[in-house]
Amino acid sequence: MITNKKIWLIGAGSGIGRELALKLASAGNSVVISGRGIDSLNGVVAEHQSREPQTPNGKLVPYVCDVTNDEQTAAAAIEVSAMIGALDMLVFCAGRCEYVDNAELSTDLFRRVYDVNVFGMVNAVAAVLPAMKSSHNTERPQVVGVASLSAVVGLPRAEAYGSSKAAAIYFLEALRLDLARFKVDVTVVNPGFVETPMTASNDFPMPFLMQVDEAAECIIRGVAKRKRKVNFPLRLTLTLKLASMFPALWFGVIGPRLARREG
Ligand SMILES: NC(=O)c1ccc[n+]([C@@H]2O[C@H](COP(=O)([O-])OP(=O)(O)OC[C@H]3O[C@@H](n4cnc5c(N)ncnc54)[C@H](OP(=O)(O)O)[C@@H]3O)[C@@H](O)[C@H]2O)c1
Repeated sequence: MITNKKIWLIGAGSGIGRELALKLASAGNSVVISGRGIDSLNGVVAEHQSREPQTPNGKLVPYVCDVTNDEQTAAAAIEVSAMIGALDMLVFCAGRCEYVDNAELSTDLFRRVYDVNVFGMVNAVAAVLPAMKSSHNTERPQVVGVASLSAVVGLPRAEAYGSSKAAAIYFLEALRLDLARFKVDVTVVNPGFVETPMTASNDFPMPFLMQVDEAAECIIRGVAKRKRKVNFPLRLTLTLKLASMFPALWFGVIGPRLARREG
């Protein structure tokens, strides 16, 4: 259970972030929710108020922030703390997915994906760290970054998305080591397939697809335990880990069958 925390949740206008925002607010946390679109953020606040009419207003505060904008993100972190107080937790859930077709590589596509999934995450974490490192809050502050199980082993068409998530995982793991002496915890969240706007247009099989409610529950349970890694669902985690342990089978037999042949 996560309660009475001051949280900045980025990527909260839809999908997993939206569900996390609603659950965290219902559990009594003060959550500033960010994304690029004010309409979707306001929609999350309205949904919270309709689900929890008894809860005092102010638990969910919308704040527009585009994490690809370095200055805007740095300024946002200061504003967010001014609004709710010294942060206990950053949850970086913003993400962008674009697939590569026919192995036709576009640097622009990679930049769009990396700008959110990697540089956006670095921007947001960098913006909150100075205050977290010198935090006087009773519990250790926590940085939570949402990456993906797609980074466990090479997947077809995921050259940009999967590699950006692998970078995010490495970034968070290294940071965990360097932040230990500052008493700041870091948790990496690796979801499998979750039914959200991001996966709505996927036209390939999504094994062990989860509903967003269940995914948000898994994340909250793992984050509350301050786990180093929160991987789910278990069956997809094991499948992908097995694939990475038997590369001859994955890259020689199974993987090529999954790769799409077009054009
Ligand atoms: N769904 C899955 O199967 C799955 C699996 C593994 C990992 N993930 C990861 O889980 C996270 C949430 O994904 P989701 O499935 O819930 O997708 P989603 O519904 O598309 O949510 C992504 C959120 O990121 C925000 N965002 C995008 N660019 C941004 C930017 N430049 N600045 C600030 N916010 C930005 C979007 O809001 P705005 O457009 O309003 O900015 C949106 O609310 C992502 O990191 C995703 O990669 C998802």
